[in-house]
Amino acid sequence: MNKYDFPEGFLWGAATSAHQIEGGNINDWSEWENSEKRMAELKKDGKDTADYISGLACDSYCRYEEDLDIAKSLNHNIHRISLEWSRIEPEDGRFDHDAIRHYKDVVKAIRERGMEPMITLWHFTNPIWFTEQGGFLNEDAVSRFVRFVGFVVDNLKDDVNLWITFNEATSIYSGMAFLRGVWPPQCKSVRAYLKVIKNFAIAHRQAYEEIKKIYSQSPVRHILTNVSPDGDAPTGMSHNINTVRIGLTENNAQIICPWYLRMFGIGKLVDFYRNHYLFSSCRGYYDFIGLNYYNILRLPGSYAVLSKQAVVNEMGWEIYPKGLRHQLNALRKYNKPIYITENGIADSTDARRSKFITDHLYETWLAIRDGVDVRGYLYWSLLDNFEWHHGYAPRFGLIEVDFNNNQSRKVRRSAREYAKICISNQLEI
Ligand code: BGC
Repeated sequence: MNKYDFPEGFLWGAATSAHQIEGGNINDWSEWENSEKRMAELKKDGKDTADYISGLACDSYCRYEEDLDIAKSLNHNIHRISLEWSRIEPEDGRFDHDAIRHYKDVVKAIRERGMEPMITLWHFTNPIWFTEQGGFLNEDAVSRFVRFVGFVVDNLKDDVNLWITFNEATSIYSGMAFLRGVWPPQCKSVRAYLKVIKNFAIAHRQAYEEIKKIYSQSPVRHILTNVSPDGDAPTGMSHNINTVRIGLTENNAQIICPWYLRMFGIGKLVDFYRNHYLFSSCRGYYDFIGLNYYNILRLPGSYAVLSKQAVVNEMGWEIYPKGLRHQLNALRKYNKPIYITENGIADSTDARRSKFITDHLYETWLAIRDGVDVRGYLYWSLLDNFEWHHGYAPRFGLIEVDFNNNQSRKVRRSAREYAKICISNQLEI
């Protein structure tokens, strides 16, 4: 057994998102889940439609204290949630004070349990009125989003340091919703995709300025010393970097994309838009980077040295822990602290989760030794939850949720293993 110490003050925890756990949301996703078209598609594929409707989800809107008690008992000292815009601003320009009160209570509950709240302002879902106006395709989306951010930050600022504007907006979301047509609004257009990612970048920059303006007018009361060395309200974005470029060996980064893409330089173009556009176009407007890392993706025809031993999760995603070290190193050029804001495995039997975590933590430790400034690790997810268009089958949780039995919670063995790492700030393998 070897022991690997993490830097003092390293943060350990788990992440969730509102629509996936809260239950009872009415937004563009719930509308799509219940639409006739979606139902018909599922039935055609012989699927049980109930498994694909978020519905009550984990009922965490009501049971958040119970969830946070478990996170605390598992020695977490950071906790990432997202806020549901459609609850806070159910109509254009009308803010719901009960909803913001609720989130104030949640943030306080996180703090009371000794965890640092990390708050994501947008995680894939939009209010219906916003979608009806064209969502992020509409230029006015920027001012609407910034208005929402202003309201939220003004209300929660006393208890929050760490803000994330967007989760995977220009990586997963824009691709799934505007290019591949899988997620609502199921658009398939390169033009729309490029417009949306541009609007996200502008919205991020303006939201960043709004957050900084609010904090400059009234300094934060809660400063957790190991979180805020870079001033008030560190603000960043969570991003999922994937494929196209990946290291074949630990120290050797090479492009493994098919010859037909390499030939016309398309590989580089895809890599730029998918992985680096947001960081490049928002330079000076983020204090940290949130990296979400799950797997690698091979484009058809890629050089496939590794795939002979490919290990996949229950969703067929190829697990490749070494890629995490490579990606952390690739992000060094932006010269910002990094939080691993998501990393997890769909594993219903919990047979592979512990190893998944330790393998990725080992690569994280190596990256830190390489000189990468990694500040924390958040496992995805605290709970089994609603996995977007895949429904309820994929089980990512440290906590098992029985959706057929009153959403009852059961802590998995891997969660207890991870808890040992969290408390000791050390990996033993
Ligand atoms: C998303 C999560 C999702 C997870 C697993 C990430 O891309 O941020 O919402 O549940 O991947 O698919």
